[in-house]
Amino acid sequence: MLEHLDRLPPDPILGLMAAYRSDDDPRKIDLGVGVYRDEQGNTPIMQAVRDAERTILERQTTKTYVAPAGNPAFNEAMRRLALGAQGALAESDRACAVQAPGGCGALRLGAELIRAANPNATVYVSTPTWANHVPLLSGCGLKLERYPYYDPATGGVAFEAMMRALEALPSGSVILLHASCHNPTGADLQGAQWRELLGLMQRRALLPFIDMAYQGLGDGLDEDAEGLRLLCAALPEALIAVSCSKNFGLYRERVGCLIALNQSAAGAGAGATLTQLTRIARGLYSMPPDHGAAIVAEILGSDTRRAAWHSELDGMRARIGQLRAATTRALAETCPDEDFSHIQRQRGMFSYLGISPEVVRRLREQHHVYMTADSRVNVAGLRMQNIPYFAAAVAAALRQ
Ligand code: LMR
Repeated sequence: MLEHLDRLPPDPILGLMAAYRSDDDPRKIDLGVGVYRDEQGNTPIMQAVRDAERTILERQTTKTYVAPAGNPAFNEAMRRLALGAQGALAESDRACAVQAPGGCGALRLGAELIRAANPNATVYVSTPTWANHVPLLSGCGLKLERYPYYDPATGGVAFEAMMRALEALPSGSVILLHASCHNPTGADLQGAQWRELLGLMQRRALLPFIDMAYQGLGDGLDEDAEGLRLLCAALPEALIAVSCSKNFGLYRERVGCLIALNQSAAGAGAGATLTQLTRIARGLYSMPPDHGAAIVAEILGSDTRRAAWHSELDGMRARIGQLRAATTRALAETCPDEDFSHIQRQRGMFSYLGISPEVVRRLREQHHVYMTADSRVNVAGLRMQNIPYFAAAVAAALRQ
C-alpha cells in the first residue's frame, strides 16, 4: 500500500532549515523559519523560563495524565493574557480556554470546532497568509477561501480591497485574522481599521478566528491584543488561537491554547463548547504535553516571574525594532533605486523583501542567505554584524 504514495516536496519553511544546516559557508544567514535569535545567532532559553522550569522540576511529584483540556491554571492565565487581565471580558465566563500542542494545535482545534458546529462553513484567510494555515484549517475538511490583504505598493494593508471582499461574504463566514505581526507580511491593521472591521463583522454577522502567535513582539503585550479585544468585547462569538512559542521561546515544548468566546456562559454556551473541545482534543491527541504549559502557568502566576519575563520580552521586541531600522538603512545605501522603507514601518518578525523567486534563489545559492521563495525574511534572524553583508548580497543579487 505505502509503495503507491507520492514523494512530497519539502515544507516551504521547514525545508529551508535543513538546507541551511547543510551549508558550511561561515557567512550563511538563516532568515527562513520564524525563530528569534540574539546577536550571537542563538535562540536562548529565556531566564524567566529557566527559573520557572527549575521550580517545576523540583516540585513535580507525578507524571500521571493531566486532562484533555490541559492545565487549568495555564488556561485561566492565558485567557487573561489574551483578553486582558481585568474588565468585563476577563471576568465573564463566556470565554473558555483549552490548552493545545502549540499555536498549530490551537488552530486545528478551532477548525475542528467550526466543522462540528457547521460542516459547511467556509474560512477566509488573507492573501497572503502563513503557509501552514492552509493544511491546518482545511485538513479537517473545511472549505478555505481568500480575501485580499497585502498591498506591495505601500507595504501596508490593502484595507479598502479587504473590506470590499468581506462585505460581499455570506453571513456566518469565518474570517481568519492575525492579531498582530502578520505572518508573512509584517503589515498590521491599525486602530481605526480594527473599528471599521468590527462594524462590518457586526453588520454581516461574520465570525472572527484570530491567530495570535506573536503577542508582545509587535508593540507590546496589551497593544498587540487591542484589535482582538475590541472584536471580542462587541461580537457574540470569536475563536482565538494563541501560541507561546515565540513570546515565551517555548517552540519545541509545543504550548498554546484555543480560546472560544461564546454568546452566553451557560447552556449552549461555554459549557457545551468546552465539552466539544475536550472531545476533539481526545480524538486528536488525547491530551496536550504538560511541561511548557506548566512553565507558562508558573511565570504568569507569580508577579516577580511575570515581571522578569515581561522585561525580557520587551528586550526582544526592542532588538527587532533596532534590526528593522538598521536593515532599512543598510538597504537604502546598497540599493538606492529600491524602496525597502516598509521594513522599518512593519511589526513582528517578518517582512517581504518584494524580490522575485529568481533573486531569492541567487541569494541562497551565491550568497548563502536563506529565505522562503516569496521573499519573506525573518528580521529577527539578522544580527547587527551581518546586516552589511546581507544588504550587499541583496544589491548584488538584484544587479545580476
Ligand atoms: C514560521 O512562520 O516560520 C513559524 O511560524 C514557524 C513555522 O512553523 O512555520
